[in-house]
Amino acid sequence: MNQLVKPRIHHLGVQTADLNNCLAWYLEFFDAEQKWELDRFSQLTLSRLPGIRRLTEVAAGELRFHLFDRAGHTRQQPDEDGFLFQHVCIQVDSPQALQAARRRWAELYESGRFTFSRPDQPTEIVVDDDGVQSLYLFDVNGLEYEFAYIPDGHR
Ligand SMILES: [Fe+2]
Repeated sequence: MNQLVKPRIHHLGVQTADLNNCLAWYLEFFDAEQKWELDRFSQLTLSRLPGIRRLTEVAAGELRFHLFDRAGHTRQQPDEDGFLFQHVCIQVDSPQALQAARRRWAELYESGRFTFSRPDQPTEIVVDDDGVQSLYLFDVNGLEYEFAYIPDGHR
């Protein structure tokens, strides 16, 4: 196929039941910056996301998140056996960054300042046969992130 575009991810859309909780956690965990906020939406957005009230963009380096709340949020986790984006993998530059992410997650969890929709703790850092190191953890909404250190010369 003739590649006409160079696809790259612009942002991840994160639906939450509690935007203040979610925003505060993303700002601290990802050391992110709040860029802008919207509370008026197009007809298309309102039809795609009925009940949307606020949407805010936060950026951590090149990675942006669009965090938004829905008036009718069920506060339930989705069906894990159904169709969904199961996790998002974020590549980091060093094994130390994985340890730092794991530590920061625990600090924020233990601070008691955030409401987590599931109690699961981060995994250990696992190393596969190629030397790729991975850590899995959940955000305050129960969405799963993988953090991966991929050594030079590997996939
Ligand atoms: Fe993965």
